[in-house]
Amino acid sequence: MEAAVKEEISVEDEAVDKNIFRDCNKIAFYRRQKQWLSKKSTYQALLDSVTTDEDSTRFQIINEASKVPLLAEIYGIEGNIFRLKINEETPLKPRFEVPDVLTSKPSTVRLISCSGDTGSLILADGKGDLKCRITANPFKVDLVSGEEVVISINSLGQLYFEHLQILHKQRAAKENEEEASVDTSQENQEDLGLWEEKFGKFVDIKANGPSSIGLDFSLHGFEHLYGIPQHAESHQLKNTGDGDAYRLYNLDVYGYQIYDKMGIYGSVPYLLAHKLGRTIGIFWLNASETLVEINTEPAVEYTLTQMGPVAAKQKVRSRTHVHWMSESGIIDVFLLTGPTPSDVFKQYSHLTGTQAMPPLFSLGYHQCRWNYEDEEDVKAVDAGFDEHDIPYDAMWLDIEHTEGKRYFTWDKNRFPNPKRMQELLRSKKRKLVVISDPHIKIDPDYSVYVKAKDQGFFVKNQEGEDFEGVCWPGLSSYLDFTNPKVREWYSSLFAFPVYQGSTDILFLWNDMNEPSVFRGPEQTMQKNAIHHGNWEHRELHNIYGFYHQMATAEGLIKRSKGKERPFVLTRSFFAGSQKYGAVWTGDNTAEWSNLKISIPMLLTLSITGISFCGADIGGFIGNPETELLVRWYQAGAYQPFFRGHATMNTKRREPWLFGEEHTQLIREAIRERYGLLPYWYSLFYYAHVASQPVMRPLWVEFPDELKTFDMEDEYMLGSALLVHPVTEPKATTVDVFLPGSNEVWYDYKTFAHWEGGCTVKIPVALDTIPVFQRGGSVIPIKTTVGKSTGWMTESSYGLRVALSTKGSSVGELYLDDGHSFQYLHQKQFLHRKFSFCSSVLINSSADQRGHYPSKCVVEKILVLGFRKEPSSVTTHSSDGKDQPVAFTYCAKTSTLSLEKLSLTIDTDWEVRII
Ligand code: NOJ
Repeated sequence: MEAAVKEEISVEDEAVDKNIFRDCNKIAFYRRQKQWLSKKSTYQALLDSVTTDEDSTRFQIINEASKVPLLAEIYGIEGNIFRLKINEETPLKPRFEVPDVLTSKPSTVRLISCSGDTGSLILADGKGDLKCRITANPFKVDLVSGEEVVISINSLGQLYFEHLQILHKQRAAKENEEEASVDTSQENQEDLGLWEEKFGKFVDIKANGPSSIGLDFSLHGFEHLYGIPQHAESHQLKNTGDGDAYRLYNLDVYGYQIYDKMGIYGSVPYLLAHKLGRTIGIFWLNASETLVEINTEPAVEYTLTQMGPVAAKQKVRSRTHVHWMSESGIIDVFLLTGPTPSDVFKQYSHLTGTQAMPPLFSLGYHQCRWNYEDEEDVKAVDAGFDEHDIPYDAMWLDIEHTEGKRYFTWDKNRFPNPKRMQELLRSKKRKLVVISDPHIKIDPDYSVYVKAKDQGFFVKNQEGEDFEGVCWPGLSSYLDFTNPKVREWYSSLFAFPVYQGSTDILFLWNDMNEPSVFRGPEQTMQKNAIHHGNWEHRELHNIYGFYHQMATAEGLIKRSKGKERPFVLTRSFFAGSQKYGAVWTGDNTAEWSNLKISIPMLLTLSITGISFCGADIGGFIGNPETELLVRWYQAGAYQPFFRGHATMNTKRREPWLFGEEHTQLIREAIRERYGLLPYWYSLFYYAHVASQPVMRPLWVEFPDELKTFDMEDEYMLGSALLVHPVTEPKATTVDVFLPGSNEVWYDYKTFAHWEGGCTVKIPVALDTIPVFQRGGSVIPIKTTVGKSTGWMTESSYGLRVALSTKGSSVGELYLDDGHSFQYLHQKQFLHRKFSFCSSVLINSSADQRGHYPSKCVVEKILVLGFRKEPSSVTTHSSDGKDQPVAFTYCAKTSTLSLEKLSLTIDTDWEVRII
């Protein structure tokens, strides 16, 4: 024990062999479900058991073999959402239902039962065109829109429900009692892992026995599915083969393999499906280990046997079957019926919340490394940015900043005066972000440990003692964040007097919260560890990191007495984590392939609610070649969370260490990011209030364009910018698809333009970031870039007006103080709308409720696609003052440029071009 406590953990210990992770065939509940489903035993709905109340319609379903009744409940939820819950009618003990993910109890709409045929029941929501048709035998539910069946549930008969049973030993004593649903004969017990499951040297003893569930969904006419992060996989979900399901099980996978369906750090059990004319979503609210199989049947045309003089042909629509399987809990599934991508985003955030509005600094560039050694190092790196004229907003400290990985402490030799260090950063208008992991070093002299132990705040083992596992500090216990009291206490640790050495410019990074347990089964906590409420870890594994980030974010809010917005980055996450901050893609590798896959990984997170996401710039593991590092900065500058990070044994890679030419390229990429911050901030506001992702796959913006459905090498930022990062070495051209036959696209730098609906070959040099502005948009920018976002508060705005084929455009700007909740509580914000039509640009209020005095002016306006040279340009302010404006016009690029303007951002005005 003493030796274990002293044990120092190195990064090599963490570099694990992939064989320590299980594939589907090593997962007992997967094998059980497969075996049972091959027997094709069906369920029947007992329609004479139907009862209806305000909220839901309930009825029994019964398996023909086991005869044990299940209770099904169907809810209509506001916003065209249906919810189906299936649980045992009388379980031996309650089964786990995921708390705290839904923002509130979903407001229901009463479903009216209309007569079906005998053997079916139809429920309609009374106002829309949506209906739920329940067929009794075999049990099936169809979701019908108008005349079209959109989703069928259990049409493949894969409903599976393991009833809680009495302990197998007791049962074994009972003679002749055979469980019909699963084969429990002695020789099969081990293979099926009913009460005990082995994996390598680990044995999972299951006190509750088998408790898995499963259900299939057939999505009619759909062939394009997305979502269920986190996997290092393509954006569009692939068909799964035998034993190759997408796994949702939060795991610490150092240097994860790419194009692989294994579970990594986080899970959002939610997928979207899209076809021409409709987008839908399925949200499977379950926090235990989950597997998802996908199988698309393409459309087929059958020739029917000749009935009359000619043979008839029948076309069968394509469809995709989605089979969800979870290790425990209940079936609780939400069907989001769209019909547009934007509707589905709103429906999902109606349930799980929207992206938290980030403090402005967090949209700037973050500089991280494992580790910045000491205060001197921090000072030198910080000065390096100024010396090289590169903006950045936050310096990060990894685990070595603490006293022996005791979070909330500082290593006295390396960081003797953390406040002094923070004051230095504050003087530069910059922030500090430090790490805080969920494992707590077992050390009777460590006050966090002692207090948590005394209050019984750790996860317990089977014997009821504190669970102990190894992580960075050596032997540790793990805070039980599922307990609201633990969260409250943990939050209180961030109070300034409690967290010695912290100031209000210190923000947080939550890591290792899958949770990572070195040498544990699959590098995580055993499933039979015990949480608050006596729930086994297996029930809630995937939500542990969600709670950690929740408690941290609440702590930061509390320390400011509710005034300031928190910033918390987390590695592990679940559905709804967007409410608490940002997510990154963990321990990626410094290889081109990893740069490339960061795009689909971030797109997937974005459409599942988590807009604030990013990947480690440069790749965490290994040393990127210079060209890769430059390209990664260029891509990262156009991705939501923008942080350079590198592991311990890598060479230093601050942006100025690769020769002046490359420093210049990185500087330029970061400066482009800062120039666009008003647009980024406005997009985040839009994500926060209107649920629309910041980073969007092309299909979201162009849902009628089939060609966009599987695109993942380019994407949109909001609806105005298309970005196609260069992800190949030595590239001299990239093929960029510019969608939309009625669109026009402008190169962000050269102003060259193309009509949409074609692929163009864009020449690229090492300084090219292929970015295109969509005709019809107005983008707000800052005309000068400062040392950090804090230096840019009062700098002037510019507007980039890109005209549509019809000569018009619109755009918005959101701004507030950038850090507090006053935008929410006091409506201290400014939301402006810019519209250009008939050669007049108008600045008007987009939201009259907001007030935020700003001294900023619009100094420059650039109009792209302006076809003829104007004879005069005048500005008209609301107080009646008119002024002529000097302009330059370039006929070659059709650009009109207005400079040295002084138009206040917060008042109405017009610019008229004649
Ligand atoms: C693993 C994280 O993914 C990585 O970013 C971090 O640097 C190390 N843990 C050390 O804290």
